Amino acid sequence: MTRRKLVAGNWKMFGSLAQLSELDAIAEAARTHPGVDIAICPPFTLIAPAAARGGVTIGAQDVHPKDKGAHTGDVSATMLKEAGATLVIVGHSERRTDHREANELVRAKAEAAIGEGLIAVVCVGETETERDAGQAVAVVDNQLRHSVPKGATAAQLVVAYEPVWAIGTGRTPSVGDVAEMHAAIRAKLVALLGNEADKVRILYGGSVKPINAAELMAVANVDGALVGGASLNAADFVPIIAAADRV
Ligand code: PGA
Repeated sequence: MTRRKLVAGNWKMFGSLAQLSELDAIAEAARTHPGVDIAICPPFTLIAPAAARGGVTIGAQDVHPKDKGAHTGDVSATMLKEAGATLVIVGHSERRTDHREANELVRAKAEAAIGEGLIAVVCVGETETERDAGQAVAVVDNQLRHSVPKGATAAQLVVAYEPVWAIGTGRTPSVGDVAEMHAAIRAKLVALLGNEADKVRILYGGSVKPINAAELMAVANVDGALVGGASLNAADFVPIIAAADRV
């Protein structure tokens, strides 16, 4: 099964209107590498102006499970779609930690996104303590079981494996550990989604840089990357796109 690679940038709480100029070179890379899907997920306030520039798929970093209501500070899938987003990250470890998001809430958010026709990028990953205790696969298995929407298709769902200890630290798991985890995720998706699982893209995230992208992208069942820090400027992000295209 060949799956189109997806390289998605997560700007987190960084960026500005001025920084949207980085999207010009990323849009150029999208034209040069038509075989790779490329997305940038800026903060909510930048979604509409980013989408208006064209040339790059724009996503969000979170969504509320409800369509509308008295939920101060939240944004719904309908609103994201209207702003021009076509994808949304849910269950990022920073939200699971900062906002105590549990798997069931993550699933509700993914369902809301999918219900609006957005692609849900469901994030999973173990902490360092869990890995050291030999529980990494079990933890991720449990996250998937409770946060992946039932009956999701490959057009609706992307899974991102992001070991918490690798995010923003410059550390990455060994290629062998990435291969083992991505194989385990694929097997779990088969159990949850049946035949469709083979088509679902599984991204690796956590300190993906130009220097390690080719190695990570070549691992079996790694169908792209979710990139934080290195997505903030085109000079770092474009070589990661190019690495995805070479595999
Ligand atoms: P990082 O972040 O690439 O800066 O490690 C990845 C992420 O949190 O998605």
